[in-house]
Amino acid sequence: MQRRDFLKYLNLSALTAFSFGCSIKPLVENKDKRVALIYATRYGATKDTALWIQEAIQRDIDILNIEDISFEKTAQEYDYFILGSGVWIDGVHKDMIRFLETQKVALKDKIIASFILCGTTAKDVKGEARIEKYFHKFHASLEKKPLLNKYFGGRMIIEKLNEKDRILLENFYTKILKREFASWDRTEPKKATLFAQTVQNYM
Ligand SMILES: Cc1cc2nc3c(=O)[nH]c(=O)nc-3n(C[C@H](O)[C@H](O)[C@H](O)COP(=O)(O)O)c2cc1C
Repeated sequence: MQRRDFLKYLNLSALTAFSFGCSIKPLVENKDKRVALIYATRYGATKDTALWIQEAIQRDIDILNIEDISFEKTAQEYDYFILGSGVWIDGVHKDMIRFLETQKVALKDKIIASFILCGTTAKDVKGEARIEKYFHKFHASLEKKPLLNKYFGGRMIIEKLNEKDRILLENFYTKILKREFASWDRTEPKKATLFAQTVQNYM
């Protein structure tokens, strides 16, 4: 390596170390702070992913279904949140959106991470853009995007779908995607564990 390149490399390493050092500063400094993971699911894959995350985080966090909570009480009761939702027909659970919209003030600076589960994969630019759009809609009412955001593969088991969803998806697969309508499971326990470990670094 040329001396000039070496010096450039040194500067870059120092900068990387500096910014990394800053970025892993814990967000949840006090271990007494209460943390909730709220998930939104229709067919269970988001709940499974939420449980894998909860299991891998080395501290007590409460796990709550968005459909069972009082928005106001929950937003007040906890100091920090991890939020996860499945994606159906182009967006996350409507209750998750409503929770963020109605509790905007109480939730300010409390959301440390978010995740989505979807059928879309980031294997090409179009897929990446679609996932970005789902996150954008998810975070639309927040002033600041959560620091950690991850998408996971979801699951679609035909026998488990209600009639309305089955007809809709069957039409979508056969008429629009022009693909066989078949069940799939792309849930990612390992990726969920890794995500939990990253979130853990901020706690
Ligand atoms: C009715 C329905 C609509 C869906 N729409 C989308 C969609 O617009 N985009 C997408 O990427 N995935 C879509 N999916 C795939 C889901 O995101 C995936 O099945 C995910 O696992 C759902 O979470 P859940 O298992 O927790 O309900 C859809 C699934 C269903 C059942």
